[in-house]
Amino acid sequence: MKPIKDNSENPCYWDNKYSKNEIGWDIGMPTPIFVNFFKKFKSKKNILIPGAGKGHDALFLSKKNHNVFAVDFSMKAISHIKNKALDLNTSLNLICEDFFKLKNLNGKIDIILEYTFFCAINPNKRLKYIQKSSELLKTDGLFVAILLPINKILNDDGPPFGVNLPKTLRDFEKYYDIIKCEKSSLSIKPRVDNEVFVLMKKK
Ligand SMILES: C[S@@+](CC[C@H](N)C(=O)[O-])C[C@H]1O[C@@H](n2cnc3c(N)ncnc32)[C@H](O)[C@@H]1O
Repeated sequence: MKPIKDNSENPCYWDNKYSKNEIGWDIGMPTPIFVNFFKKFKSKKNILIPGAGKGHDALFLSKKNHNVFAVDFSMKAISHIKNKALDLNTSLNLICEDFFKLKNLNGKIDIILEYTFFCAINPNKRLKYIQKSSELLKTDGLFVAILLPINKILNDDGPPFGVNLPKTLRDFEKYYDIIKCEKSSLSIKPRVDNEVFVLMKKK
């Protein structure tokens, strides 16, 4: 097996992408699947978004009065969210830090929202991510994910790094009960058939 080429652990790699506007992952709006999912939550939740990027989901949910923690180690991403929050007259917790080094939030989060972070980190960190996410969640907390790209050849260079769905679900099952795993009619067109919506509850 060839070693994968990966620069994703360096925040400068991501800052550079934002500076050059090479952000093919950014859909430019709140994620339709999540917008639909959150219709049923009327009470305020503590929601953490790892690798929040330009924060479309984070800002949408803070406008809906949730207590949002947007985590990203790219200064460019975080300052974009900060400016946008001012424009939109909303407030959220902006954390410019390596997700794996987060402190003080263990057991405080109701919902973690995952989109395009799992595939952005080096695959050798995925188990650590799964464990860390479950530590952040309260008892019965939810991990709400869209996992992609499920069709990319594994071991190809990234990010994004391909997701082997059956193996990934087995890894999550060490810490989570899987409530739902399905393709969604709300997937954006270029990602149809290449992503799945997965709803899990902390064990
Ligand atoms: C592919 S982008 C996705 C951004 C956003 N989720 C979206 O869909 O637009 C991945 C993001 O994760 C951030 N990131 C990567 N590794 C990180 C880490 N260890 N800690 C915090 N942020 C990280 C990057 O800076 C980047 O903004």
